[in-house]
Amino acid sequence: MELFLDSANLEEIRFWSERLSIDGVTTNPTLIAREGIRPGEVVPKIFEIIGQDKLVHVQVLAQDSAGMIKEAYQLRSWHEQVVVKIPLTLEGLQAIKALRASGIRTTATGIVTAPQGLLAAKAGADYVAPYVNRIESTSGDGIQVVADLVKLFQLHGLPTKVLAASFRNSRQILQVLLAGAPSITINPELLPALVDHPLTEGCVESFIHNYRQRFGTDSLE
Ligand code: G3P
Repeated sequence: MELFLDSANLEEIRFWSERLSIDGVTTNPTLIAREGIRPGEVVPKIFEIIGQDKLVHVQVLAQDSAGMIKEAYQLRSWHEQVVVKIPLTLEGLQAIKALRASGIRTTATGIVTAPQGLLAAKAGADYVAPYVNRIESTSGDGIQVVADLVKLFQLHGLPTKVLAASFRNSRQILQVLLAGAPSITINPELLPALVDHPLTEGCVESFIHNYRQRFGTDSLE
């Protein structure tokens, strides 16, 4: 299983990379714009934090295939572990196919249907990123899209990985992993809800209280 942080916030990335075994970071133009640091500056800083061997997914801005390809080469020139995010449009499909031949890794992003993901995988995308919550916000079934893609790739022997993205709660996260998504990217704002629990904290408090009652100290010595 691969776990990515969906963020361009350096402190947030640092905080969670010290606590979780992450495989990299995914970004998008909105996340980068929010930090106000241009991609060429923030991407190297992300690698400094998470490690040069991890992956950082960075999205192109161009909407035509020629522009996407040009930007992909630019992004890949920053670091060999950059995976280029390409929106799954007709232009994006052309770019993904061309970049596959050039050995540049791509993520087909903005996936909302299984056929989109299947065609992206056939074109040679290394990852396809279905946007679970955005699908569900239009009364679609984001978990089912993930499950269908996982099954389609297994049935047809496609090496592409489903990188489940876009969540608003822990239920969605757990369900895509139960559906077999091999990769997931999570906005760090959702991570405390996956870790913190009052019952866990209560257990620890009672252990310490009982120990302190018996020995009059919190010390192990
Ligand atoms: O990178 C795509 C992903 O960040 C979209 O997620 O939370 O904006 O729907 P969200």
